[in-house]
Amino acid sequence: MIIAWRPDWWALRPDKNRDCNVAAMEIREVAVVGLGTMGAGIAEVFARAGIGVVAIEVDPEALRRGVGVLDASLSRAVNRGRLAAQEQAEIRSRVRPVEAFMEAAAVDLAIEVVPERLEIKRQVFAELDRVCSPTAILATNTSSLSVTAIAAATKHPGRVIGMHFFNPAPVMRLVEVVSTVLTTEGLPAAASDLARRLGKSPVRVSDRAGFVANALLLPYLNHAVSLLETGYASREDIDRAATAGIGLPMGPLALLDLIGLDTALSIMEVLHGEFGRPRYAAAPLLRRLADAGRTGRKSGGGIYDYADASAGKSDPNRNIAASAAPDTVTLIGSGDDAETDLATALATAGINVTRNAAHPTDLIVIAAAPGRPVLPAALATGRPDQAVGLHSASGELAEVIQTSLSSGRAVTSALALAARLGYTAVRAPDRPGFLVGALLYPHLADAVRMVQDNYASPADIDTAMTLGCGYPQGPFQLLDAAGPAAVLAGLEFMHAAYGDSSLAPPTLLAEHAVTGIAFGGSGEPAAAGPSSVGTARAGTAGAGSAG
Ligand code: 3HC
Repeated sequence: MIIAWRPDWWALRPDKNRDCNVAAMEIREVAVVGLGTMGAGIAEVFARAGIGVVAIEVDPEALRRGVGVLDASLSRAVNRGRLAAQEQAEIRSRVRPVEAFMEAAAVDLAIEVVPERLEIKRQVFAELDRVCSPTAILATNTSSLSVTAIAAATKHPGRVIGMHFFNPAPVMRLVEVVSTVLTTEGLPAAASDLARRLGKSPVRVSDRAGFVANALLLPYLNHAVSLLETGYASREDIDRAATAGIGLPMGPLALLDLIGLDTALSIMEVLHGEFGRPRYAAAPLLRRLADAGRTGRKSGGGIYDYADASAGKSDPNRNIAASAAPDTVTLIGSGDDAETDLATALATAGINVTRNAAHPTDLIVIAAAPGRPVLPAALATGRPDQAVGLHSASGELAEVIQTSLSSGRAVTSALALAARLGYTAVRAPDRPGFLVGALLYPHLADAVRMVQDNYASPADIDTAMTLGCGYPQGPFQLLDAAGPAAVLAGLEFMHAAYGDSSLAPPTLLAEHAVTGIAFGGSGEPAAAGPSSVGTARAGTAGAGSAG
């Protein structure tokens, strides 16, 4: 791996005419400063790529824990048959755990992975500036802080770059390569090459709070905490709605526990500080849990408990069996696809169905659609306590819509019915968007706003979310599949109901809904070369420099 690098670059502002390949150095050894979950993962990634790693933690106990995380990850790979014992030993032998910064004196690159506090990062960079060779590259894995502010605190800001990995670092393929106005020309391309050598897909972004992936992901996770906090839905149902309803690899609350609630809170604070919109205000519950030290998996508990063997047993839908499904159902609909699909599913399951609300049945099911409240139809039956809505957001998930008059018995019966029909079921309140829409529509609106603000193209956003967060489809693929008009309508209903300005549909979404033109995201891996984000809008791409 040859990285073009000249010791005198940092003394100069970027010079477009300079030949970046005049002098070259090889990345043989790196320092990883901070051995928390991310630091240990990043150390593993470098060591797996054959690069020596000086793993620095000044606190011996933290160093021991970090090495433990690394060892556990390698052992897991061996146990899964993904790594031979011999390879494990070789990878491990490349990592040298140390407690002193001085050990980084000879490295070619140092990457900082310490907590998300600017003053700590600046201290680390001042130290690295002092001990590292003047030819070394200094990288930060900051999730959201200004790389420019970090770089400006060093003597040689031109050699500072952001290399933002995603958790778990050994698994997620995205690396956001963040350059600043001070970054030496050629360094972003070199960092992208390095990311590719690590088996990652680099995406070039400019220095804006949260870059691309976190600026989109964190408000969505924070919103999920608000839904939990306000009693909108249970934590299990929120997570299930995201996995079974949207197809995401993890629910937002489980993902928060993986990322760390303290890290998530820091990112929200940076986003709020930079953009100021209410959507970026940290949910009070997020702050309380972080303050209480319930930071997620790393502390044994966050939204969920991990140390406790009974974790998950409080799931309210857990023991509702399909055998408790009603034998007779009254089906009420609006003559649309939702009703037809439900009627077919009920008939296939052998359930007796009547359309006449006057006939006594075990349960009244209202074929629900987002934006059409269930309550008026329930009232019209004359037996609103026995009525619930049923909405299938995907082939896998059914939302059981509980009105303010639905009895607990009717809801339990509907959950059993959903299980009998083969669905994963969640409870959702009779509010616009129900549960899946309440999570998804504002998230898609955020993605559209990012394009509208000329910050990133739909393809870049889809790439960031598929490679960085394991989305099977990027936000724009999801949006195009649902239809811009349907998403617009969902947001309009939510905005009208809550009057919350963060739910106001972006103008660009309304334009696509009117014209019927798809956004055309792709989420294709950036295999051939890094995308350039932060400089180009869809259709006008090309303003960014190639890697
Ligand atoms: N360390 C190392 N490897 C891990 C791991 C870990 N912590 N967790 C899982 N893996 C590996 C497993 O060994 C397995 O590898 P294999 O296929 O080679 O055997 C593979 O990942 C799949 O793991 P599992 O089968 O155990 O579990 P899942 O299929 O459920 O996948 C997941 C786990 C990869 C974490 C998946 O749920 C996922 O993609 N989740 C989304 C994660 C995400 O969004 N990350 C980004 C967060 S944002 C961020 O990090 C930015 C920061 O700035 C906040």
